[in-house]
Amino acid sequence: MPVHEIRHPLIRHKLGIMRRADLSTKSFRELAQEVGALLTYEASKDLPLEPCTVQGWCGPIEVEKIAGKKITVVPILRAGIGMLDGVLSLIPGAKVSVVGIARNEETLQAHTYLERLVGELDQRTALIIDPMLATGGSMAATIDLLKQAGCRDIRALVLVAAPVGIAHIEKLHPDVRIYTAAIDERLNEDGYIIPGLGDAGDRIFGTK
Ligand code: PRP
Ligand code: URA
Repeated sequence: MPVHEIRHPLIRHKLGIMRRADLSTKSFRELAQEVGALLTYEASKDLPLEPCTVQGWCGPIEVEKIAGKKITVVPILRAGIGMLDGVLSLIPGAKVSVVGIARNEETLQAHTYLERLVGELDQRTALIIDPMLATGGSMAATIDLLKQAGCRDIRALVLVAAPVGIAHIEKLHPDVRIYTAAIDERLNEDGYIIPGLGDAGDRIFGTK
């Protein structure tokens, strides 16, 4: 599946502000939620609809609703929490599956320390959210967990993606669509995206 870089002017503008090193925690946090919501709009464009009848002001009327079981949003702790409210602002009825993954700062290997998935994943669309797709290790581990639980429709929403991380996901999970606000140049020797956003978790939570 191709990666979708969403080059909408609002996203370009907001991400440009997020790249400023002097931005406050408050503003970074707000913008992460806003861009999360805009990516959700794009990533949900092809959700199937089904007809239903409602009582309108002049009698019964046929309308549409999103078909099937409720979507699950899957924030990858901790930084993924920084996009959660933005996604839920558009899909307020979504179920939330939480995955805790930390990247070892030396080896860059993803370590899973928490898994709280909702049920009936074989009938749900999953929207994984994490601001950064760097080596792709954390995202691949999350996709593995969802697939093991039976999920078949998985979409990944990230603020910034590195080419190597995209290639990693495309190789291991070619069926998973990636929606990103930007594809940046490269990773540095410490595994950080250049130019990127720095440490997204620290910027969202105000640590460091
Ligand atoms: C960051 C980020 C991703 C991961 C990306 O999280 O939020 O989850 O690194 O790197 P990868 O693609 O190379 O796996 P981190 O492990 O630093 O934890 P945090 O969310 O607690 O900051
Ligand atoms: N995690 C981050 O928070 N930022 C990066 O650039 C890479 C991984």
